[in-house]
Amino acid sequence: MNKNIAIVGATGLVGRKMIEVIQERNFPYKEIKALASERSAGTKINCKNFELTIQELTENSFEGIDIALFSAGSEISKKYAPIAAKQGCYVIDNSSCWRQAEDIPLVVPEVNPEELKMGSKIIANPNCSTIQLVLPLKALHDSFGLKRVVCSTYQSITGAGQKGLNKLNKELSNQETDGKHPIAFNAMFHDSNDDSGFTVEEQKMLAETRKIMGLPELKLAYTCVRLPILGGHCESVNLELEKDFSIEEVVNTLADFPGVTVIDDINNQIYPTPVMANDSDEVYVGRIRRDDSVQNGLYLWVVSDNIRKGAATNTVQIAEKLIEMNII
Ligand code: A2P
Repeated sequence: MNKNIAIVGATGLVGRKMIEVIQERNFPYKEIKALASERSAGTKINCKNFELTIQELTENSFEGIDIALFSAGSEISKKYAPIAAKQGCYVIDNSSCWRQAEDIPLVVPEVNPEELKMGSKIIANPNCSTIQLVLPLKALHDSFGLKRVVCSTYQSITGAGQKGLNKLNKELSNQETDGKHPIAFNAMFHDSNDDSGFTVEEQKMLAETRKIMGLPELKLAYTCVRLPILGGHCESVNLELEKDFSIEEVVNTLADFPGVTVIDDINNQIYPTPVMANDSDEVYVGRIRRDDSVQNGLYLWVVSDNIRKGAATNTVQIAEKLIEMNII
């Protein structure tokens, strides 16, 4: 039976992409309710086959809704996800609000779909940088065992939502901008909210990788960087594996994993970039090399569209899994 869907944050970068992905993947929906703040109520958004009128998000928005996809920030999720769940609606939440709650599953469908059986009405969608990393990590862990992961990210400004994109465009048109650092022609870090020395993004990646992989002791070292790039996030990854491997085995293992595409021919300048990953749902892996500085060491370069697989697509895939597993 087709489902009634609500999109919370439907005017945002991720919210709009969610609607696009739902249509593209022929998700079995009956109606889509587009919700945002009071500011946007009454405005129209153009979708492929129809136009949607934005409605203001209120406590009564979830009546008759089967699945609500949230992407309006943590404060909204904290307040409205329990209200929706109480009314029998499944919530798939793109904010960081519920990701570390013990009784809330944090799911990447190719990696840990069984977590959906926990019976929680609220399901957390992981951080974009974490999603694209755990696909190759899971593939390699199952075959060779993970000992240690070192990852540096090169993240698109679109990860900061429409506001981030507006900031970049404003700076590129030579207008003054707010904030300590410009993003145009620059590299900057995400915000930090404690005295650990780590940014919030680095903390999220660390905790979320361990939770999704079910490896609470996994050794990880992350540095996250935001760049004025569009199309996707990139990650330079160094792994220490438990077992020895051949590069051919690694390539085959990655290429066989659902959602992963290997593109790796440096001699012909063929490798994944954010521009080529743009608007695709795949996680691309290239620059696969042995790292002889440690035992069983491996280099990877991982690229994916952060708004699609890193956010909207993964959220819709979770909804699809709920249906496929007869949970909803
Ligand atoms: P609005 O456009 O009405 O402000 P992004 O991450 O791209 O900046 O998008 C954030 C999304 O969250 C937007 O759709 C935005 O709607 C929505 N949002 C922000 N504040 C609220 C609120 N108080 N109630 C409902 N939606 C909100």
